[in-house]
Amino acid sequence: MKKLFINIGRLVQTESGEPVLCRAGKDMSRLESIENAYLAVNGDTIEDFGSMETIESLRAKGPEYYFENFADEVIDIDGATVMPAFCDSHTHLVFAGSREQEFADKIRGLSYKEIAARGGGILNSAELLHNTDEEELFRQTLERAREIISFGTGAVEIKSGYGLNPEDELKMLRVAKRIGEETPLTVKTTFLGAHAVPARYSGKREDYVNEIINEMIPVIASEELADYIDIFVEEGFFSVTDADRILNAGMKYGLRAKVHANQMSHSGGVQIGVKYNAASVDHLEFTGKEEFELLKKSETIATLLPGSDFFLEMDYAPARRMIENGLTVAIASNYNPGSSPYGNMQFMMGLAALKLKMTTEEILNAVTINGAAAMGLSETHGSIARGKVANFIVTKKLPSLDFVSYALTTPFIRRIFLKGKEISN
Ligand code: NIG
Repeated sequence: MKKLFINIGRLVQTESGEPVLCRAGKDMSRLESIENAYLAVNGDTIEDFGSMETIESLRAKGPEYYFENFADEVIDIDGATVMPAFCDSHTHLVFAGSREQEFADKIRGLSYKEIAARGGGILNSAELLHNTDEEELFRQTLERAREIISFGTGAVEIKSGYGLNPEDELKMLRVAKRIGEETPLTVKTTFLGAHAVPARYSGKREDYVNEIINEMIPVIASEELADYIDIFVEEGFFSVTDADRILNAGMKYGLRAKVHANQMSHSGGVQIGVKYNAASVDHLEFTGKEEFELLKKSETIATLLPGSDFFLEMDYAPARRMIENGLTVAIASNYNPGSSPYGNMQFMMGLAALKLKMTTEEILNAVTINGAAAMGLSETHGSIARGKVANFIVTKKLPSLDFVSYALTTPFIRRIFLKGKEISN
């Protein structure tokens, strides 16, 4: 099935030259686009794109040259904008129930750490998940997957980390994989057994780390349930030494590192992430010159999660300084029940503008090609390029491109196409 989209007011994030796998530093201000454009899609793949002038000059040669002849369907975009679907590279989409009681505690003044220390937080989610069977967990996750698709997300990373025992961690990863099979989302999965120390190992963190290394990683790898391995490096959670052991074990089984790093302190998470050539280090609220220098020399993406800073009312990551220091910055939703109970990438873009002081061009790079890079997907996702997966958003008519970061929650998406097919709500 060939589809031809014509009269696109602005086709954003096009790649006309050498493939772009990510954009770093000053380059994040570059956003190639074509005004008055067409886009040709063959099945689930972008076949071609260019200026409407090409179509018009062929038209002038006679009916046998009509571009439309080669399409099964012609869709008139009528001057609206088309851009790649969002690539959300950090989520905890698989979880059971919700944690609004903790939200109420937070409003009464308790901190995230205090809630966690009382057995709330991640351990609360682990208990809920343990008591939810796999089918029900899938049903709840599917609902969230449909929600993020309706907000324009086309590729997503999904972590485990609310299981905290072999059986439940595997259950989470199977559900995450199934989301990739039964929805149009492209899914990458991450094993995050080291998200918190479960109650049964209270005071015996090292024993839990041993269980992760000896019992969980081998099975997860042999069942091919994960692409990445992650760890929450933070006081009260896991240490740099734990990370060294876990990431090393993961690497031996072919799982590339990711790290929850520097969310609440200068935890050393960035250093250990870079040591293991992590695909990304995520959060980064507490980072400075030392971390910037390490990241600049590495291939590791700096993934910022402004949704959780907003929700937890914490300091935001120093995005401007990161960009000035040449880093590759991605923005993700961190959709999870505790620190970011939403997955709307449009809202993240608004926060990136307001709180991280990023420009619209930087933000669009951060939520498309750099997000794809943080999932190892930038050869197939994150831009409008020939041969890439046809994942894109058709907007309402925009007064200017800046509207996408200014709108915050006013919907600007009119139609969504994933793997070449229109998503119907
Ligand atoms: O990325 N920081 C650790 N993990 C999540 C929060 C998980 C939770 O509170 O349930 C995060 O913010």
